[in-house]
Amino acid sequence: MKRSKVIELVKHPEVVGLGNKVCVKGWVRTKRGNNSVAFIAINDGSIVSSIQVVVDVAKFDEALLKLVTTGSCLCVEGTLVESQGKGQSVEIQADKIEVYGSADPEIYPLQKKGHSMEFLREIAHLRPRTNYFGCVLRLRHAMAFAIHKYFNDRGFFYLHTPLITASDAEGAGEMFNVTTFDLNNIPRTEDGKVDYKKDFFGKRTNLTVSGQLEGELGALSLGSIYTFGPTFRAENSNTPRHLAEFWMVEPEVAFNDITDNMDLAEDFIKYLVKYALDNNMDDLKFLNDMFDKTLIERLEFVLKDAFVRLDYTSAIDILLKADKKFDYPVSWGIDLQSEHERYLVESHFKRPVILTDYPKDIKAFYMKQNDDGKTVRAMDVLFPTIGEIIGGSEREADYQKLLHRVQELNMTEEQYWWYFETRKFGSAPHSGFGLGFERLLLFVTGMTNIRDVIPFPRTPQNAEF
Ligand code: 4AD
Ligand code: MG
Repeated sequence: MKRSKVIELVKHPEVVGLGNKVCVKGWVRTKRGNNSVAFIAINDGSIVSSIQVVVDVAKFDEALLKLVTTGSCLCVEGTLVESQGKGQSVEIQADKIEVYGSADPEIYPLQKKGHSMEFLREIAHLRPRTNYFGCVLRLRHAMAFAIHKYFNDRGFFYLHTPLITASDAEGAGEMFNVTTFDLNNIPRTEDGKVDYKKDFFGKRTNLTVSGQLEGELGALSLGSIYTFGPTFRAENSNTPRHLAEFWMVEPEVAFNDITDNMDLAEDFIKYLVKYALDNNMDDLKFLNDMFDKTLIERLEFVLKDAFVRLDYTSAIDILLKADKKFDYPVSWGIDLQSEHERYLVESHFKRPVILTDYPKDIKAFYMKQNDDGKTVRAMDVLFPTIGEIIGGSEREADYQKLLHRVQELNMTEEQYWWYFETRKFGSAPHSGFGLGFERLLLFVTGMTNIRDVIPFPRTPQNAEF
């Protein structure tokens, strides 16, 4: 018999029709009952709800039913009927049960409900079987799909930028090296330096920290592009908002100035939040009820008003006047800490904030320089509970100014020669930004630790699964 997904039976029981035979396959979430009747909740991952299977115990082999325990995997055939109990509209009266795989209750780690997030992280190979992670992973999929849809509908092209590069786009030096050298026997030049000429690519290479530089090449030929891929940062920051491997979405648009860039960022993020509310309400409701009672309210709230737009210098003034003691003292020139960002968003404006025109010394080399000689046309989008969710800028399109900045920072021009050629040949004003995909998911799911919105988190000292 053809298998039905639980979502089909729960959402559209009329398709199979009450009184007709169905087959479901999935994992047992709970089993309860007595000597005459058993109730088995089966979840197949298609939706957060499980379907209830009602078993007339007398009709089944006792040994078989013994194998039906939490975590085991079953194939059930039976009749779809209206449910007698509360909490579900339909259930299945079982005719036939096959146990695909048992799960010894003595050792199955998800035997009981209510595990801590910390514990679940230690069993990342099994945690997708919990309702929490089912919801998170379905939302993750929906957001990835919505990102492609948003850009495709607006004429952007998806550009695949390399994961292995020879450049440091952000100039922060937090990179993972890529090499095929035998680490116990690294070739050296006569003056004792590592001889990268002998390495696989004939030069020093690393995992990318951003697809932006290559993205700019795309924008300056195709007009509007976006990248969406894994990004790697070897920063040793063990925080609830940092991963060593995360996914970033980077649109880059020719002829956009900073205001167009802000408009795009705000429209994009509101679209994604609305997409989740329109398409994933089952998952959001579950997370709202079980984890974070204000989740849906926060999502709806973000859609209501325009984001505040403010320059860095004015933000510093606000922070200096704040009657709150910050762990990191405030002065013009500091890189804002998440406590500062959250103060602006959560306490002062009570809305998402787009901060612009940061001091050039705390931002990357490629940002457009303002006439004041001190600031650059950067923009960060700051969100409640998260802090920075997007970082971007208008780009420096002037060859001489860019060259000057690179020299000032003691960067090697030769390494970026191909990037400079975009400024030499047909340069154009352009802007872009990067949205941290997992930061977006933190906001959309209400999870508080970034390790809980990616299936297999990579953080310092952690690459088990
Ligand atoms: O602000 P960032 O470093 O900007 C760039 O990389 C630019 N090249 C983007 C661009 O203009 N095309 O990173 C962008 C976003 C951050 O705002 C944050 O949301 C996320 O990426 N991010 C991280 N997310 C998780 N873990 C980390 N270690 C992250 N570092 C940055
Ligand atoms: Mg940033």
